[in-house]
Amino acid sequence: MAVEILIAESAIRDRVVELGRRIESDYAGKPLTIVAVLTGSLIVLADLVRRIGIPHRIALLQASSYRGATTTSTMLVVNESFAPDVSGRDVLLLDDILDTGQTLAALVQHVADRGARSVRTAVLLRKIGRQTTPIEPDYCGFTIPDAFVVGYGLDYNDDYRHLPYVGILKD
Ligand code: XMP
Repeated sequence: MAVEILIAESAIRDRVVELGRRIESDYAGKPLTIVAVLTGSLIVLADLVRRIGIPHRIALLQASSYRGATTTSTMLVVNESFAPDVSGRDVLLLDDILDTGQTLAALVQHVADRGARSVRTAVLLRKIGRQTTPIEPDYCGFTIPDAFVVGYGLDYNDDYRHLPYVGILKD
């Protein structure tokens, strides 16, 4: 399938530098743990943490959502074998994309329930007009139109994650 470039590699690099600077000044002197949501945020995680020049920890969370058999609501299941110890930590949850907002809202609650001192959120991308769950990310890379995007960690059937840019998948 063809991929049309939406956000070029250089634009992502510049924005990640900006976000890193902001996070660095906001969390100076605090026990920061960046908790990245697998698998889509791995690439932005690797680039972002190298732009944050203060001591911090990195952790991973794996979550899967399932559509209920009898309802339209989805249920989020967190894989506890990856669960980081966040008690007393200032957690910054990092996800690749904010779509409906369900995943991030549920994970904020999950991390708060495990004793984090504070929980904020960062997303590389935020889709316009898709949000159903009210959550305002504290750090956002880019706002994008409502299209299916791949690259820079985002996948279609686990392909395309390696692309150095974010692109729209054309069928
Ligand atoms: P919600 O709706 O909970 O979903 O905000 C966030 C998760 O949905 C996936 N997602 C996408 N993945 N291209 C992708 O590769 C997309 O355009 C897209 N939109 C949503 C993604 O896993 C994200 O964490």
